[in-house]
Amino acid sequence: VSARGIHHLGVAVSDLEEAVDTYRRLFGAEVELRETIEEQGVEAAMLCVGTGRIELLSSSRADSAVGKFLENRGPGMHHVAFAVDDVARELDRLAAAGAELIDETPRRGMGGMEIAFIHPNATGGVLAELVANG
Ligand code: CO
Repeated sequence: VSARGIHHLGVAVSDLEEAVDTYRRLFGAEVELRETIEEQGVEAAMLCVGTGRIELLSSSRADSAVGKFLENRGPGMHHVAFAVDDVARELDRLAAAGAELIDETPRRGMGGMEIAFIHPNATGGVLAELVANG
């Protein structure tokens, strides 16, 4: 059941351009998607590194969720995203298992992918994301 694997690791960065260049230079990363999500105050880049992915997140507004994260904790690991077949079904299953959810229902993330976030309280301090495996 449940997760098929890790879809990506999310990393909060203060300068998106600089971080993209760094991951290119150090790890041969290639940009797969690049997106600004205005209503969330996020500028993001999805990078492919071999068969894995890193999502770099920077803030376009200080009061955004990523902006607050950067202010409180500085740049670094932000979340782990698990690939699942059906985000809504997994949310139901996790809720039934007593996991604290951030999103009760799926929403649209980068590239129109269906996503949802699980509270770090449910996972021992790590923000988790579900991504529809598509
Ligand atoms: Co993510």
